[in-house]
Amino acid sequence: MFRPNRCQICGETYLGTQKPDRCPFCGADQRHIVMATEWVDHGKVDLSEQSYKDCERSVELELDNMAFYKCAAAKTKDQIMESFFKRLSKHEGEHAELLAEMMGIEEPDPPEVSCSDDDRENMAEAHRREKRAILLYQAIANRAPEPRMQEVFRALTDIESEHLIVSSTYR
Ligand SMILES: [Fe+2]
Ligand SMILES: [Fe+2]
Repeated sequence: MFRPNRCQICGETYLGTQKPDRCPFCGADQRHIVMATEWVDHGKVDLSEQSYKDCERSVELELDNMAFYKCAAAKTKDQIMESFFKRLSKHEGEHAELLAEMMGIEEPDPPEVSCSDDDRENMAEAHRREKRAILLYQAIANRAPEPRMQEVFRALTDIESEHLIVSSTYR
């Protein structure tokens, strides 16, 4: 039976006969995916000044990573690499959208980002980028007073940790 599921992190809906292993849009673990009828809309969050700044910085980082992965996906000649880079780019774009929504702002335009012609160099760069994101998000999750900020940044830390595994495997 087809059931509409919904991701409690990014808010995207998923139609299928069972829950996906990960949210196909943001990469969140299955435990964050609920029946559409159980889904809670958090939308814009009432953020402390520090949390607002943290989201601002994180949106920038996500858009930068999204643009980098998009560049890497366009350059590679390898189908597996293209699939990875394409999905990583989509995940980061979804993260940027989510954070902008939490702040109640329009998503900013992504920056121009260059990348290498070499897949391994791009995977090594992906590794550095994901490490940077994980360190930042762990710190934000620990200092944020808002439960929704903690939930989102813990989930983002987990997702970027899986990205790091991908980059570690293929760099
Ligand atoms: Fe999601
Ligand atoms: Fe991300």
